[in-house]
Amino acid sequence: MTPQSNNEPIILLESLRKRFGPLVVLDGVDLALRRGETTVIIGESGTGKSVLLKHIVGLLKPDEGSVYFHGRRMNDLREREWVEPRKSFGFLFQLSALFDSLTVGENVAFPLVTHTTMRRAEVRQAVARKLEMVGLSGLEPKRVAELSGGQKKRVALARAIALDPEVILYDEPTTGLDPPRADVINELILRMRRVMGATGIVVTHDMSSAFKVADRIVMLHKGKFIFDGTPDAVRACTDARVRRFIEGRANAEDLEALESRAPS
Ligand SMILES: Nc1ncnc2c1ncn2[C@@H]1O[C@H](COP(=O)(O)OP(=O)(O)O)[C@@H](O)[C@H]1O
Ligand SMILES: [Mg+2]
Repeated sequence: MTPQSNNEPIILLESLRKRFGPLVVLDGVDLALRRGETTVIIGESGTGKSVLLKHIVGLLKPDEGSVYFHGRRMNDLREREWVEPRKSFGFLFQLSALFDSLTVGENVAFPLVTHTTMRRAEVRQAVARKLEMVGLSGLEPKRVAELSGGQKKRVALARAIALDPEVILYDEPTTGLDPPRADVINELILRMRRVMGATGIVVTHDMSSAFKVADRIVMLHKGKFIFDGTPDAVRACTDARVRRFIEGRANAEDLEALESRAPS
């Protein structure tokens, strides 16, 4: 380990297990996240990436294992005890989850109005600053319904950073966007780390995004991490499961199933 002034992990997951009925989703997951780094979590659809993010912010509770934030065990906190620590997390949900009936400005203001005692003029200024951060200055009066997909993501990001979180979780932030718009999101993820010093956790299956934003990439497969390393280490990795994923190749069983059903 490299020497650091503060090398306690900001988030530590220890032997996390989570099942839904018979379906084991997390089967002993360990992860230590260092402050200020961006970690990308890759893995097939349905492997539990979103479930993992929800454990970090207390939206789901593990069956076994621990979640630590700044060394504090978070598992047994009651919902009202989560209110304060949750302000340290900005969550960019897979489907943006904006309030369609509100304007852009009202959406970004929402966490400020709910969680702070800021006056209206201060809220207005803070909203303007956050929209500027995501390159959407002046968009306050627009209705969410009028926005493009890429703009919605950026507004959702402006809202996620409204309270200046230490940690930002991005769940498939580029999914559904064309490559140039996806790259705007990549640039914003880099900006959040650079300007706010935010610790980032990005779930994605977009490998060009992963390679661009990651300090570190981990791969979740069948309930466990099977890879943990730098982007260069991923490129050099010889594990067949990792290679297949990053090269976007079907696995042998799926191909065989196609062959056997192909019309001759
Ligand atoms: N609240 C829930 N109740 C039951 N099953 C769930 C719940 N949340 C997720 N799952 C299941 O857990 C698995 C992992 O889901 P998820 O984390 O959303 O996958 P992904 O890696 O695509 O984000 C899926 O099979 C999903 O159906
Ligand atoms: Mg998901």
